[in-house]
Amino acid sequence: MSGCAYEIAEPALPCKDLAGVSFAADILPLLDFHCNGCHAGGAPAAGLNLENHSEVAKSVLEGNLLERLSLPVLDIRMMPLGGEPLPECDISLFQVWTAEGAPNN
Ligand code: HEC
Repeated sequence: MSGCAYEIAEPALPCKDLAGVSFAADILPLLDFHCNGCHAGGAPAAGLNLENHSEVAKSVLEGNLLERLSLPVLDIRMMPLGGEPLPECDISLFQVWTAEGAPNN
């Protein structure tokens, strides 16, 4: 094999404008894509339904959702369980939205 892709660092992705993060337009689509295979419906994993704004808000403000997103991939508590960690820019969206008080916007 000639050349090794792993020798080349990936360029840092520019984050979209992080001001005014929207639950409906930014946060929910990320949850639907990465999380709601498990955290939705009548019997969501850990009893946590992430389709529901009030449950998501409670989990970022009072629970451990943000911490779970930022754990190393080898940590069994890392979310999404069994998947790849979210890109940093997407985690930033969660952090900014939480800092804004996790509004239903
Ligand atoms: C493959 C299924 C699966 C996926 C995908 C998944 N989770 Fe989980 N999640 C679980 C299970 C099972 C638990 C309970 C075990 C544990 O706490 O680690 C859990 C627990 C949690 C908890 C802790 C709840 C509590 O009350 O302590 C949070 C927060 C969480 N998940 C958030 C997320 C987020 C955010 C995503 C998407 C980025 C995600 N999960 C993706 C299965 C999943």
